[in-house]
Amino acid sequence: MAGRPQVAKTVTALRREVARWRAARETVALVPTMGALHEGHLSLVRLARRRADRVIVSIFVNPAQFAPSEDFSTYPRTFATDVAMLAEEAADLVWAPANVSVMYPDGFATRIVPEGPALAGLEDAFRPDFFKGVATVVAKLFIQAAPDVAVFGEKDYQQLRVVTRMARDLDLPLKVIGAPTVREPDGLAMSSRNVYLTPDERAVAPTLHRVLSLCAKKIAEGRPIDTILAEGREAIERAGFVLDYLEARHAETLMPVGSIKDGPLRLLVAAKLGKTRLIDNVAV
Ligand code: PAF
Repeated sequence: MAGRPQVAKTVTALRREVARWRAARETVALVPTMGALHEGHLSLVRLARRRADRVIVSIFVNPAQFAPSEDFSTYPRTFATDVAMLAEEAADLVWAPANVSVMYPDGFATRIVPEGPALAGLEDAFRPDFFKGVATVVAKLFIQAAPDVAVFGEKDYQQLRVVTRMARDLDLPLKVIGAPTVREPDGLAMSSRNVYLTPDERAVAPTLHRVLSLCAKKIAEGRPIDTILAEGREAIERAGFVLDYLEARHAETLMPVGSIKDGPLRLLVAAKLGKTRLIDNVAV
């Protein structure tokens, strides 16, 4: 096992360490997380390791991206285990603000509000404040850690597009890299929220990815998108999900698409199984 990573709990401590690395001309990668780490997060850390000399993993359950009806208070918090897992991956530093007011001091009054096609519909239609909360905290993380690269999972595909656009729009001097979704052997995308699934729901959950993959295959074969998505929606609901959306979008801009020729395409889905909301996406 590699050494335990340092844990910085204040912006000053974080910046002191990053300045030391910079003085030694070392490059820095950031992996933003909300903790409750799983193999999907660890794959991001491994990618970050390959792209920079030093790796920071931030762990902060960001209240600004949860609606009052959502699971902020019950979101899994497993800090000691997370740090042990990061030690195995030889992460250099864990950026874990000591409390919420380190990130949002008294009187905090500034927000990043993403706009444009990458925001049109999908998650934004169901979680209207989510991306404001994500963009604000991610902008802060980028400014605090000043990394050369930041790694995000493709599992949160719209988030990846929104953050990539934000970094470009605000001239933030870093590269945002997307990493492929890591799946359980039965295809379910790994997520910190999978622990909410009951055994019966867990057995049904992989249907989401199965349907998504089948739709992608049929669309790639040239079948009409509208018909295939209608069949997909029906199959997901038949399996017991309450569907939020199943859509085909342009993979880069996330603009709606009418045919395969408007590609490259991405299929994106969100659906509730009992109390758990699952999202997933695949390339066509
Ligand atoms: O994907 C997540 O875990 C969060 O949305 C992020 C990017 C860490 C911002 O809080």
